[in-house]
Amino acid sequence: MKICVKKGSFSEFDCEAVVVCHFEDSKRLSGAAALLDKKCGGIIREMIGLGDFEGKLFQISVIYTRGFIPARRIFVVGLGKKKDFDLEKLRGAFSKASRRIRELNLKGFATSLDLGKINQPLDKITESVVEGVLLGLYQFTPYKTVEREKIKELKEFVIAEDNDDSFKIIKSAAKTGEIISGAVNFARDLVSTPGNEMTPAILSDRAGEIARKKNVKLKVLDVPEMEKLGMNALLGVAKGSDEPPKFIVLEYNGGKKGDKVVALVGKGITFDSGGISIKPSADMDRMKTDMAGSAAVLGAIKAASDLKIPLNVVGLIPATENLPGGGAYKPGDILKSMSGQTIEIKNTDAEGRLVLADALTYAGRFKPEAIVDLATLTGACVIALGDNTIGMMGTDDKLKKRVKDAAEATGERLWELPLWEEYHELMKSDVADLKNTGGRAAGTITAAAFLSKFVGDYPWVHLDIAGPAWLTKDKPYIPKGASGVGVRLLVQFMRNL
Ligand code: BES
Ligand code: MN
Ligand code: ZN
Repeated sequence: MKICVKKGSFSEFDCEAVVVCHFEDSKRLSGAAALLDKKCGGIIREMIGLGDFEGKLFQISVIYTRGFIPARRIFVVGLGKKKDFDLEKLRGAFSKASRRIRELNLKGFATSLDLGKINQPLDKITESVVEGVLLGLYQFTPYKTVEREKIKELKEFVIAEDNDDSFKIIKSAAKTGEIISGAVNFARDLVSTPGNEMTPAILSDRAGEIARKKNVKLKVLDVPEMEKLGMNALLGVAKGSDEPPKFIVLEYNGGKKGDKVVALVGKGITFDSGGISIKPSADMDRMKTDMAGSAAVLGAIKAASDLKIPLNVVGLIPATENLPGGGAYKPGDILKSMSGQTIEIKNTDAEGRLVLADALTYAGRFKPEAIVDLATLTGACVIALGDNTIGMMGTDDKLKKRVKDAAEATGERLWELPLWEEYHELMKSDVADLKNTGGRAAGTITAAAFLSKFVGDYPWVHLDIAGPAWLTKDKPYIPKGASGVGVRLLVQFMRNL
């Protein structure tokens, strides 16, 4: 879909549909809605006066303009009460409006960002509107081969603005919104792609596409290099699969040489069967999403490069399948991790923390100022926080605050869980330094306690995205399926740095 910011008067715009907004509690029409109403002889006021439209959040009415203005239809979208308004609502409203327009099989629409008096800066309004449209319209269709002509697709979204200063702000913010949404949808595609076509090798190829961008470099470690480094936790998990594991190192150097590095680590289990401790077959197909952490990292680095964020960032992705092949690692096995610490395997389904352990150790090579890892790590996190919320744990208050602030800005729900000393006890093994599960109690936290043993002294935050990585129900601008969670959060985090 093409996003165009065009100079000119909104009411003179010739297109199939335009979108304007209205607050439930504003007495009078304002901004672009007022302008069109005037041009159309009070057509919107009449609809409201008759009680057919109240402006309730996400309420949508369509009006046919019958020659009053060049645009054939006006979609009026409710933004709810003014005091409750925020950018999340705006993203949702524009998602819902554009989805309704697509439903009618129209090919394009236009809007004006003059929403009347609201206390949000124009650049943020622009970014949010573009995100709402591009994220809300996402659909994953490459595997549908029958009746493809029935797939509806919007081709063009125009933002009209005639004021010079506003035009400049909108033009640049729309580009930003487009880049960020593109990165989220890139991550969604990776996660949506089935396991047979999203192997570690294919994932590293997709990372290679990002490495064609400016300032981005890719290194992929294969088994012999991993053996040399002693990444036996990662290699242990990989043994049950015929697909060779890959350790992906994607560096983006937007900062100065010698500047500190931010390390982003993403769990890249391209399919998690549980291994020998095999999962129940119901819903096991969902486990193609077990590389959502790595998808978020790749999306974030793609966006960082496109936005030219002045930072040095390294993305680290331990990628493998977790399968119960003949060579598979077994409960009772003891693996010696790259850090030198030994790990007793209690359950081969707790594989994410094993591959992350070696990745976190590897991160130390960059002496990072911060490490953030993202992982679909525990079912317990879904039980604790539901499928809408990221679980956060970490070792550094300042870094936690930064991550929390970023999540707040992007509307990605995040909640902190404690990582107190008591939890670390539960991960001690009788025969090795650590064991890979700590029992049912506090499963999300004990997983994080395990990871913490591999991060050294670097400030570190762990995000458990097992819940929100995949939605079973539509959210206002996140269609059900792969959500791309974490991409916007990471991008916002990097922009704030
Ligand atoms: N990938 C799963 C966690 C998961 C579960 C993600 C549901 C998304 C939805 C992870 O590898 C796993 O299997 N964790 C185990 C850990 C347990 C064996 C200690 C779990 O949560 O059951
Ligand atoms: Mn597992
Ligand atoms: Zn897993």
